[in-house]
Amino acid sequence: MPPTDLFSRTISYLRLSLTDRCNLRCMYCVTEEEATGCLSKLRHDELLTYEELLRVVRVAVAMGITKVRLTGGEPLVRRNVMQFIRALTGIEGLSDVRLTTNGILLERFGQELFDAGVTKVNISLDSLRPERVQSITGVDCFHQVWRGIERVLALGFAPVKLNMVVMRHINDDELLDFVRLSQHMPIQVRFIEFMPIGGSTRWNADTFIGTDEIMDRIHGAGDLIPLQKDQSDGPAQVFRLGEKAVGTLGFISPLSHHFCNRCNRLRLTSSGTLRSCLLHDAEVDLREVLRSNPDDAAVREVLLTAIRNKPQGHQLAERMRRSGSDCHGRMSRIGG
Ligand code: GTP
Ligand code: 5AD
Ligand code: SF4
Repeated sequence: MPPTDLFSRTISYLRLSLTDRCNLRCMYCVTEEEATGCLSKLRHDELLTYEELLRVVRVAVAMGITKVRLTGGEPLVRRNVMQFIRALTGIEGLSDVRLTTNGILLERFGQELFDAGVTKVNISLDSLRPERVQSITGVDCFHQVWRGIERVLALGFAPVKLNMVVMRHINDDELLDFVRLSQHMPIQVRFIEFMPIGGSTRWNADTFIGTDEIMDRIHGAGDLIPLQKDQSDGPAQVFRLGEKAVGTLGFISPLSHHFCNRCNRLRLTSSGTLRSCLLHDAEVDLREVLRSNPDDAAVREVLLTAIRNKPQGHQLAERMRRSGSDCHGRMSRIGG
């Protein structure tokens, strides 16, 4: 049985941020200075080694964790990542290993990922217009990402989910274009509320669009039919737009509709700390324990401490209204 926290939530999903490095500079992830200059990065010795990561996952799986997601930064930019992924999917008892990526390297790694058993992928794509993708990410990469999407679909990856962070006056005029995509492609398009997390200095109340408004704007295109959630599904509420749609639509509403009461996640940041809530800065150090204590019982104890300390929920929306303060952790280090 997976561990439970103080609020009877079952913690069965571990997200691993493999690196804080990234080959893009998405405007909701980096500061304005970083968009044009240098991104602060962790030193190599601050990252957990692959052996350390595998040790953590083995202990977590023995405790009942069943789902692991690789994220970052961009996980596929870490050197020898496929070697690590093959070792990871070989861990006995771990059947569900998924990846969140910006898609740039999917054309190159799609086949190897599939062969290694990673067949479920979430891809960030905030616009279907090449020049706009360039202005949001800082790189002219739309066609490269699109080829990656085509490659994973052709290889038989399922589900394939596209993450679109919805921002007013930046990409919200494309909501219906994304909806249309979900009608003829076997993908799940997920509309994500823009979160004021450290680095996303361009967040403001005007740029933010809540899920209710997004749904209102989509309704005109047809009926949203709610779908049963899969046990392993993350925070999205999932719908099909009309009976004939090939794909589905997901709505992720961290600000307007908390999903904290059904949160099943624990995060291992790329600096080797455990973070039990994306939107709470409290973290427990695991790196030091991994490096100083060869006994797996010590690792297990730190995992249990992090789970025990998982807060009931976040009050980010209230905090923003009161003081305008955001959450300090960086998305690329925490792992989205
Ligand atoms: P599935 O396993 O496919 O359902 O994926 P997922 O939604 O857990 O993973 P993904 O990496 O695609 O995350 C999508 C987005 O959901 C993240 O970027 C966040 O914006 C949001 N999100 C995921 N987990 C949390 C969480 O614990 N708290 C909050 N507030 N937002 C989250
Ligand atoms: N608000 C909402 N989503 C974000 N992501 C990154 N930064 C933010 C933010 N400030 C999303 C990316 C990626 C996922 C892991 O996190 O779109 O798909
Ligand atoms: Fe890279 Fe993801 Fe941040 Fe974009 S959101 S810069 S793809 S880590």
